[in-house]
Amino acid sequence: MNALKVDFNRPVVVGKEFEYMQQAIENGHISGDGPFTKKCHAFLEQQLGIQKALLTTSCTHALEMSAILLDVQPGDEVIMPDFTFVSTVNAFVLRGASPVFLDVRPDTLNLDESKLEAAITPRTKAIVPVHYAGIGCEMDSIMDIATRHGIAVVEDNAHGLFGKYRGKYLGTFGSMASQSFHETKNFTSGEGGALLINDPVLVERAEIIREKGTNRARFFRGQVDKYTWVDIGSSYLPSDILAAFLFAQFEQREKIQFHRKQVWELYNLGLKDWAGAHDVQLPHIPADCEQSYHMFYMLLPTLELRQKLIAYLRERGVYSVFHYLPLHLSDMGRSFGGKTGDCPVTERVSDQLIRLPFHNSLTGNEQEQVIDLLQGFSF
Ligand SMILES: Cc1ncc(COP(=O)(O)O)c(C=O)c1O
Repeated sequence: MNALKVDFNRPVVVGKEFEYMQQAIENGHISGDGPFTKKCHAFLEQQLGIQKALLTTSCTHALEMSAILLDVQPGDEVIMPDFTFVSTVNAFVLRGASPVFLDVRPDTLNLDESKLEAAITPRTKAIVPVHYAGIGCEMDSIMDIATRHGIAVVEDNAHGLFGKYRGKYLGTFGSMASQSFHETKNFTSGEGGALLINDPVLVERAEIIREKGTNRARFFRGQVDKYTWVDIGSSYLPSDILAAFLFAQFEQREKIQFHRKQVWELYNLGLKDWAGAHDVQLPHIPADCEQSYHMFYMLLPTLELRQKLIAYLRERGVYSVFHYLPLHLSDMGRSFGGKTGDCPVTERVSDQLIRLPFHNSLTGNEQEQVIDLLQGFSF
């Protein structure tokens, strides 16, 4: 049997995770908003130059908070790419909104900004671009259209922490953005997320929604003498133990990003000629974008070849995965009127896409073996 085993993802300790988790316990504060949560907030705010960052229990929950903050109501429409994770849409459908799925660009797999303006109606409440693979959407066009129509933009930046578009960090364009710290992300706490708030008007209510609809944050700052129920909300704040783990990862920003850049570049260089010879599309990074090095994906010529390749790699101990299914063709998407042919690019790339192993402890040797196997695959 083949002894090779290359995981798709592997959790890894990169710095002081255990020390900080122990400290969190010794601090006597392991619920939310303890010292490590505050360090994470300050880190994100300083590094990204933003008004406010709030850790959440997931990116999904950060998106849910954004929908509440925008007062999304039944009858509202929210525009998003068809090629994204269910949370991008669910957060808004939970408030009663109808999703409007836009097809994606064939080069970056990001929302096709050339189709955006035509999708806007008097009921459009928000636009939610997703920076797929941490490669920026065309934010100049998107922000221009949104501003002209007075529509809020929430960036789903689950993949894109520290990616940039025209020199500006992803997550700093819209009135809000969501981050994910799920185990597959560059920086992780197992499960976790953050809401980035760029519009100062939203900050106080965001704190309330995140703390069960109470003004507890103001109470702790001594701004009110008791705290009470003032709005709708839920419990969106993670334990300080998770924040301790995450902060240890944040401290290793340079090391993590440098390693991931090397991983991405080795795949890209090692597969360029092979891809060209077999009609395989490698990721496209527009000149205006600095990517976050979140993933390495490829588009195979057909679904059959993609499935055959995943099976071929698995039989040889290498774990690769496909990604999103077209949302408009899911059971829920169809209940909103989605039908085959609505988003042809998404329908095609969803069949063709494969993600290669990519994580913070992947070695060059493991990658060379993956590349060798790919070169031995018969089309
Ligand atoms: C684009 C996008 N948005 C949101 C999410 C949800 O993230 P989380 O698991 O942190 O809720 C994901 C998950 O990977 C995602 O890919």
